Amino acid sequence: ISSLNAMHGNFMQCFLDHTCPSNSSSQLLYSPNTTAYDAVLRSSIQNIRFLNSSNTTKPVLIVTPTNESHVQAAVVCSRKHGLRVRVRSGGHDYEGMSYVSEGDRFIVVDLAALRSVTVDAEHGTAWVQAGATLGEVYYTIAEKNRTVGFSAGVCTTIGVGGHFSGGGIGTLSRKYGTAADNIVDFRLVDANGWILDRQSMGEDSFWAIRGGGAASFGIVLSYKIELNYVPPIVTAFNVIKTLKQDATKLVTKWQKIGPNLDENLYIRVIAQAMDDDEAEGNRTIQAIFNSLYLGTCEELLTVMGCSFPELGFEAADCNEMSWLESVLFFAGFTGRPAEVLLDRRPEFNSSFKAKSDFVREPVTETAWEEIWKFLMEAKDEPLILIMEPFGGVMNEIAKSATPFPHRKGNLYIIQYFMRWFETDMETTERHLSWMRELYDFMTPYVSKNPRAAYLNYRDIDLGRSARVWGPKYFNNNFNRLAYVKSMVDPDNFFRNEQSIPPIKSP
Ligand code: FDA
Repeated sequence: ISSLNAMHGNFMQCFLDHTCPSNSSSQLLYSPNTTAYDAVLRSSIQNIRFLNSSNTTKPVLIVTPTNESHVQAAVVCSRKHGLRVRVRSGGHDYEGMSYVSEGDRFIVVDLAALRSVTVDAEHGTAWVQAGATLGEVYYTIAEKNRTVGFSAGVCTTIGVGGHFSGGGIGTLSRKYGTAADNIVDFRLVDANGWILDRQSMGEDSFWAIRGGGAASFGIVLSYKIELNYVPPIVTAFNVIKTLKQDATKLVTKWQKIGPNLDENLYIRVIAQAMDDDEAEGNRTIQAIFNSLYLGTCEELLTVMGCSFPELGFEAADCNEMSWLESVLFFAGFTGRPAEVLLDRRPEFNSSFKAKSDFVREPVTETAWEEIWKFLMEAKDEPLILIMEPFGGVMNEIAKSATPFPHRKGNLYIIQYFMRWFETDMETTERHLSWMRELYDFMTPYVSKNPRAAYLNYRDIDLGRSARVWGPKYFNNNFNRLAYVKSMVDPDNFFRNEQSIPPIKSP
């Protein structure tokens, strides 16, 4: 305890020495013996599974910068006092890597207070601080202008810092690519505590932080992004089908249609098992065709009539709205005021496990029947399959343009997702093993050599060895990431259980 206290004292003194003299600098630091520590640690945690885990440790300090120099000081002082740094923007990391560690003694730099969004309407760009949430970005850029949007994820409490640096896919990806594809500049604190941007850090680093996961390279302070045009009226819809309503045939068909649709149309499928309302004691599969069209209902009716008549889509299914309202629709906030997008608090106080796969060849109808059987056997909370179509612009961007390699050849990505609320180990283990069994079960139907995975759906089951997870997340781009790492952080100061290692010199 006394060595911990001494470390806190030393870090605090260093932090004060490296920041502008201000009485409040010390109030930016939270050690485990301060009353607010737990509340600050939990403030953005999405997955509470790691809070009481015996396999992980919590930070010895949390730093909550309110300006860029605080971030620089946190890096310099951590190095000086032999601590590692985990950076947290929105706290959505699937494996908790922004706030727990499997071994390092570390501090958390929590960027929640660095969250400004500054729009340059004339040039169609914005500087977005890493601690902003997607909700804050969408709200600020689109509130005054119905024709401006941005291509990124659907969950509005996600932080910009982690999400943009790992890719970022959502309803506009078929038209505008990933969030990372729309970054044009950045500001980052490197392992020496210096602030660098695209020009001073160079094109290799600019390439690496757009899909390679910035946590391996430094602390991103902000990104400059190019905003995306959206029409003043868009149309969102859900068409829901069960097994009796031909869900199997429709999902089989969707695999060929979804990735080849007009790039203004995005139809994802969310499938899960549930009780069959019409036959007590029976289970069924519900497939939701959850969709956004960048245009009016009238135009959409024509597109759907030509491309996917089997779905039985009709005018009554249409919900015309602004793009910002469609963000509310996809986030499950329909009918709520747009200001709900500014609420950063985690929606669920729960644990979850997720995994991802990419599908390159359509799964057959018979195979879907087997998959449904597997899903219907899960007795607890449902295993959910979220299938997001690629195609469109995603097919046109070269696999090496950014570290995100999942481009042409992929029909769609599947995310397997399971949430539970009990915190005991037994329940946790039962859910984790269900998820692993499903992943094994899906092997014949998904990408191979490597079996690809999406970095933002981080999965520690892929291992701690970069030789194993590297090609899965990054395919042939992995070597270039390791090269950039060797250039910008040869001592591997910025590291976590799945960070890019520097190439060792011979
Ligand atoms: P967090 O703060 O936990 O950071 C994640 C990782 O990035 C950590 O390794 C962290 O250290 C690092 N990091 C964070 N800020 C950094 C910074 N400023 N500089 C350097 N490194 C930084 N994805 C998607 O593409 N589309 C989607 O629709 C969704 N939907 C979704 C829903 C829900 C409920 C969850 C929990 C997650 C998603 N995601 C997603 C996944 C999401 O993109 C992924 O978890 C991001 O990494 C989250 O970024 P945060 O900043 O919120 O996380």
